[in-house]
Amino acid sequence: MRLHVANHPLVTHKLTVLRDKNTQSPTFRLLVDELVTLLAYEATREVHTEPVEIETPVTTTTGAKLADPRPLVVPILRAGLGMLEGMTRLLPTAEVGFLGMQRDEETLEAITYANRLPEDLSGRQCFLLDPMLATGGTLVAAIDYLLARGARDVTAVCLLAAPEGLKVVEDHVGDRADVSVVVAAVDERLNEKAYIVPGLGDAGDRLYGIV
Ligand code: URA
Repeated sequence: MRLHVANHPLVTHKLTVLRDKNTQSPTFRLLVDELVTLLAYEATREVHTEPVEIETPVTTTTGAKLADPRPLVVPILRAGLGMLEGMTRLLPTAEVGFLGMQRDEETLEAITYANRLPEDLSGRQCFLLDPMLATGGTLVAAIDYLLARGARDVTAVCLLAAPEGLKVVEDHVGDRADVSVVVAAVDERLNEKAYIVPGLGDAGDRLYGIV
């Protein structure tokens, strides 16, 4: 597993406002959107392209365009949905799948309640969106879903990660696939309720309110 921590003053600035408990949902959503676009720039560094001949007003030249098959972006519901727009802004031709996952607050295990993904993901670059990589349970389950359908190239885009969750993902994936994690920051630890510390609280609640 490869880890990339975006190291940029704008990322740190936006993340600091997100962490602030006084930041309300409308501002929170806007900042998540902006932050994800910055992370998407890092996450797509190795997106597949193919050469294309074009004519400029002056001459012909060879450029590059996104290759087929198109990348697949998969937000993990519910909180990952808040990251979709920021990601597809940079990858407008990507296909979008969905995974509905929830953690059981007692066992902390990931439960899948919905999935809408192409059957065959061989050769596809997949981008999973989940704001909080806490215990790693949800991300590991989501990665397994994609690998079971043939994907071998998976990048998870997260706002925050805990060291404990990163280790779970690393140990689980091993060398079965090319898995990268792109985050705005790696925080200190998990607390006894498996929340990231210092973190930003419950990302879904902060995006959409408590339902
Ligand atoms: N999920 C969240 O929304 N926040 C955390 O801190 C951990 C998991």
